[in-house]
Amino acid sequence: MSEHIIIFSSARRTGNTSIAAQTLAEKLKAEILFLDDYQINAYDYEVSEHKDDFTEVMGILLQFEHWVFASPVYWYNTTAQIKTFFDRITDYMDDETLQLQLRQLRNKRMSVLSTSNVLQGVDAFVAPFKLTAEYLGMTFKYHFHSLATSSGKISINNINVSNRLYGNFTGLIQKNKCPENT
Ligand SMILES: Cc1cc2nc3c(=O)[nH]c(=O)nc-3n(C[C@H](O)[C@H](O)[C@H](O)COP(=O)(O)O)c2cc1C
Repeated sequence: MSEHIIIFSSARRTGNTSIAAQTLAEKLKAEILFLDDYQINAYDYEVSEHKDDFTEVMGILLQFEHWVFASPVYWYNTTAQIKTFFDRITDYMDDETLQLQLRQLRNKRMSVLSTSNVLQGVDAFVAPFKLTAEYLGMTFKYHFHSLATSSGKISINNINVSNRLYGNFTGLIQKNKCPENT
């Protein structure tokens, strides 16, 4: 089983972020979880037990050591589903049993894969992920970024070149190479 999981969210299942996520997944030999397939209710101060898929998602993710959130940049921000996912981690802070699971995060790593219409990944976009990782005791590793161009191609660059494995990860792929599009 892979140690990496790509937690992918987008308003379209087979768009730019999907292509980028699959390219990175091949490189890392990572699993992909499409977060939007799961029902995750918004955080609610008055609700302690939600009837939704959040616990199932956490159960899946806790099996992996490296969580890579793959998201398009929508108005300088991540998707609503990823934001809701983070909000709901708050439930785990309020519940003693769940706190034990939350402590497992202290040994885990987090990265981000963004896609947008600009060449460089934006620090402001990745800041909430970095700060959340820090708060949860996770180690933030990498910000991968993909430029989506009008020609229907995306390039994937890792703007952190400190690590040899990830530093070598630079590619140019075409949409028709995306398995979901073939
Ligand atoms: C609602 C919406 C908001 C967007 N906001 C931005 C933005 O703030 N900055 C940017 O560079 N691109 C922006 N884009 C472009 C997307 O980030 C880009 O096309 C991305 O690769 C889309 O990924 P997807 O195909 O998975 O949706 C936006 C696109 C949409 C649909």
